[in-house]
Amino acid sequence: MTARRLLLVNGPNLNLLGTRQPEVYGSTTLAQIEARVREVAAESSLEVRAVQSNHEGELIDAIQSAREDCAAIVINPAAYSHTSVAIADALRSVDLPVAEVHLSNIHAREEFRHHSYVSAVADMVVAGAGPFGYEMAVRYLAGRIAR
Ligand code: DQA
Repeated sequence: MTARRLLLVNGPNLNLLGTRQPEVYGSTTLAQIEARVREVAAESSLEVRAVQSNHEGELIDAIQSAREDCAAIVINPAAYSHTSVAIADALRSVDLPVAEVHLSNIHAREEFRHHSYVSAVADMVVAGAGPFGYEMAVRYLAGRIAR
């Protein structure tokens, strides 16, 4: 039977959401985003394991562990989107549906944010929708898992 669990991964500095550059990232905290993700996932009888880390290796360990007991991954790799081949490779190796979320529209920002290594591995990418992007990602993945 398919696991009824999503892995929610948030990368560096996202622990500071709510107070970090609110003009760019809004005033919603990570705890509020995680709570909303759990709520939306529960509508599809999905549990959530939420991980946030400022360390690349910890994010990779969390992604690898999804192999055991998760059906899909929602990830905001934050700044590692633009630098980390290792995170993209970890996502590739677990072979689960992946939704990539960015609160801000990375394409409308500095040039170095326009490219994400993770996007090549992601099944869907949402950028610029704020916290609602996480909700869209969960709904998309719930549909993918059901199919
Ligand atoms: C981000 C965009 C990244 O460029 C940035 O480094 C982040 C957050 C976003 O959610 O908009 O930390 O992923």
